[in-house]
Amino acid sequence: MAQGMTSNEIRQKFLDFFAGKNHKIVASAPIVIKDDPTLMFTNAGMNQFKDFFLGNRKPDNPRIADTQKCLRVSGKHNDLEEVGADTYHHTMFEMLGNWSIGDYFKAEAISWSWELLTSVYKLPKDRLYVTVFEGDPKENLPPSQIALKEWSKLVPQEHIVFGNKKDNFWEMGDTGPCGPCSEIHFDNRPDAERAATPGHLLVNKDHPQVIEIWNNVFIQFNRKADGSLEQLPAMHVDTGMGFERLVRVIQGKNSNYDTDVFTGTIAEVERITGKKYNFGDTRSDVAFRVLADHIRAISFTIADGQMPSNNGAGYVIRRILRRAVRYYYTYLDYRQPLLCQLVESLGRQFEFVFPELYLQKNFVEKVIREEEKSFLKTLEGGLRRIEDIHVKDGVIDGSDVFELYDTYGFPVDLTRLIAEERGWKVDEEGFTKALNQQKERSRADAKRETGDWVTVTEKTGTELPVTTIS
Ligand code: GLY
Repeated sequence: MAQGMTSNEIRQKFLDFFAGKNHKIVASAPIVIKDDPTLMFTNAGMNQFKDFFLGNRKPDNPRIADTQKCLRVSGKHNDLEEVGADTYHHTMFEMLGNWSIGDYFKAEAISWSWELLTSVYKLPKDRLYVTVFEGDPKENLPPSQIALKEWSKLVPQEHIVFGNKKDNFWEMGDTGPCGPCSEIHFDNRPDAERAATPGHLLVNKDHPQVIEIWNNVFIQFNRKADGSLEQLPAMHVDTGMGFERLVRVIQGKNSNYDTDVFTGTIAEVERITGKKYNFGDTRSDVAFRVLADHIRAISFTIADGQMPSNNGAGYVIRRILRRAVRYYYTYLDYRQPLLCQLVESLGRQFEFVFPELYLQKNFVEKVIREEEKSFLKTLEGGLRRIEDIHVKDGVIDGSDVFELYDTYGFPVDLTRLIAEERGWKVDEEGFTKALNQQKERSRADAKRETGDWVTVTEKTGTELPVTTIS
């Protein structure tokens, strides 16, 4: 394995490899999406090419490659609950991708992905497994015979796993371009474990050491709002490789956080807090991972123009930030703004990949510091309030959850997280009811107002949380 490579070298090798196959290397699109109502954040490298796939626009070069900043914390693709607790899910991650817009198809995509992984990165072939779509009669989708034929030329049969629609039919959202896919997984377990249980039995089974690294999607359809699949005028390739996972397997680590993508930030947190990261599963280890992960999502979304706020994309960022604050406050005993202190080194790390952060580091740092200061002021009060709440039959009443939300700025996910740590549940229905009542009250108040401004279109204020935090 090419273990000595740094993450920057690994990224560059990917781009050089596809440039060598006549791909145009383009810049990452912003992580925040402003011109597609079906998505809040970029959740895959292909988002910025959606119109090419649908045939609405033509690219100047039908072969494209890049590294794309992605965020999967809302909507169809949502990994937030896993982040920090495990070692391989992230809020923001880089997706390395190569695309064919009506140009090459399955044979080239599959053989190039194998060539890059085994000849350039020199990953051991016996640790790689691939998946092939088994078809879905309900949707009238046949098994992927071509993918099976191409993989059979490269890997033994026991390294090919058939997968269902959930794992092997990729869709960017509820609507939009989609198609069958073929994933590549890496088995990082010790030899004795591999001998006892063959890797193909653990593919797509949430094993922390048998993980998906690359997905090759063969875009052929457009999912319509009525749920039907419409055949596209041309067939395309859309691949996505999880950069942090790739670096981890090449650098021979058991956790993404042990690679040089994250170790710099973890060292900064150690320096600032005087605490040690022990590579384990204690609450303080989880806190280190949460901080190393969340600071990336928070900083890059602000650098791309999304301010934390009380609704939509801004609220998602505010909630991620508050989740991070609560972790350092409670588990690293740190009581001052911490996240803002990590921006400078993060910006420097990515200066030549995503320069937008380093160029705006003072601004980003200031926004984060203000957010942290304001939340730290109420956090203590909220945590004290929780101690006084009367919890009946292990459930926090919806009105108390609402008070924490409304008075102390606790997103409901934060209350859920604290409840879960204590073995309690949250009265979700009661919370939603209290929230809706508040919205009704503000609507009624707005109607009674008289003044120079007339409301033409009424819009509700704070949105319901779009996802859960744990
Ligand atoms: N668009 C390919 C993927 O996200 O897996």
